[in-house]
Amino acid sequence: MASRPPRVFLSEEQIQQRIRELGAMISNDYPAGPLYLIAILKGAFIFLADLSRAIKTPTRIEFMGISSYGRNKTSSGQVKVTKDLDVSIEGHDVLIVEDIVDSGITLHYLVNVLEQRRPKSLRIATLLDKPDRRQRPVEVSYVGFQIPDEFVVGYGLDFAEDYRNLRDICVLEQAVETA
Ligand code: PRP
Repeated sequence: MASRPPRVFLSEEQIQQRIRELGAMISNDYPAGPLYLIAILKGAFIFLADLSRAIKTPTRIEFMGISSYGRNKTSSGQVKVTKDLDVSIEGHDVLIVEDIVDSGITLHYLVNVLEQRRPKSLRIATLLDKPDRRQRPVEVSYVGFQIPDEFVVGYGLDFAEDYRNLRDICVLEQAVETA
């Protein structure tokens, strides 16, 4: 089995232009820092790198790891923290940085976890949003692109750990048989 080459869905230029717009909005909404950017590993690492540099407000960078039980996320919503923050966020402005909101299970869980730590404010920025797939309600303040239910890779997003380093966001075509 082999896959056809990925088809460009959002180009590097489109992504970078939108990130400049998001960065301007966030800078305007948070004139005073520090703004804590919490990126969720692994998919958000490239978006974090570009978004943080598009934000003029002083930021602090933190990472969290979240995983679901079993290989596939299900409506049971069983998720857990695999890497926690190294710092307290109490009394701070916090922006969760995600590459994609799909079922919403990851962020629904994470927002509940972080709200218990009494940040001054807590919002979400995501590069991609697939609203058609939502199983849990999630309020997202900054959305790069709303996309249909296609399997996208690149710019941090993977398929079985491949493709994360593509500069564009691409659609992975259906696998095809080879001789
Ligand atoms: C992806 C993505 C989000 C989550 C969104 O992570 O980065 O964290 O899934 O899906 P949901 O809205 O259905 O919960 P993934 O578990 O694929 O891990 P990765 O970021 O390491 O690729």
